[in-house]
Amino acid sequence: MSDENEIWRLTLENVSHDYSGLAVLRNLNLRVKAGEMVVIVGPSGCGKTTLLNLLSGYIKPSSGSVEIDGVIRTVYQQDGLFPWLTVEQNIAMGLRNLDDKQKREREIKDLVELIHLEGFEHHYPHQLSGGMRQRVELARVIAGDSDILLMDEPFSALDYQTRLRMRYELVRILKKRPRTVVFVTHDIEEAAQLADKVIVLSTRPAHISRKLNINTDRPRNPTSDSVIAATREILDVLGLETPTGKDI
Ligand SMILES: Nc1ncnc2c1ncn2[C@@H]1O[C@H](COP(=O)(O)OP(=O)(O)O)[C@@H](O)[C@H]1O
Ligand SMILES: [Mg+2]
Repeated sequence: MSDENEIWRLTLENVSHDYSGLAVLRNLNLRVKAGEMVVIVGPSGCGKTTLLNLLSGYIKPSSGSVEIDGVIRTVYQQDGLFPWLTVEQNIAMGLRNLDDKQKREREIKDLVELIHLEGFEHHYPHQLSGGMRQRVELARVIAGDSDILLMDEPFSALDYQTRLRMRYELVRILKKRPRTVVFVTHDIEEAAQLADKVIVLSTRPAHISRKLNINTDRPRNPTSDSVIAATREILDVLGLETPTGKDI
């Protein structure tokens, strides 16, 4: 019986997906609670982006059902911004439903402050660093009344140090503006730092190999005990634990 106090934002039941004969996802069952941060990890090509496209309703599963309760916004790996619009105008794209001009301007100002880009309001994406561009992306999807953020490897095009900073940024921003998040990454450390729940996918056709809960507070340092323990467990599930002497 489902708990009446819980809101399930996303529900997948027995979802399988094929692309004209190519079996990609097999029998996935997953429920995402309101406010939860679920991180999907799995090998390249296993079907992570396909899974996000199913969760957003962009594609329909070959079989099984997907239920969505809430407004969804999506963040891509890179280049999700309109190159011909400024920082301010890109953020405003997330506020198209807000008719009150004064409220809209106030909100844009708050969001620019939230992502620490004061002074860059009139810059175009090509005038920003990769990290700054992804901060604008975060502001755009957090703008207005979205409930669910689907993020497809949003930091993977960034260098390691910027990526680490962005993880802390995401945690900080979500504390101020809580959302339900499904975050796809191939980066195991990232999953261990960010997730309430990690979903480990197998190779294609992908099933769920492990659901792992991490209950420690965020932000989490990459070298903290809970992040290291979770990283170990994920590596183990993926068969990437230290090779034994005879394997190397
Ligand atoms: N629109 C599509 N048509 C046909 N095959 C696709 C399509 N999108 C993805 N694929 C294939 O499905 C598999 C899973 O792709 P994808 O979901 O992008 O994996 P991931 O994001 O985990 O790298 C890959 O083999 C890919 O080539
Ligand atoms: Mg992908």
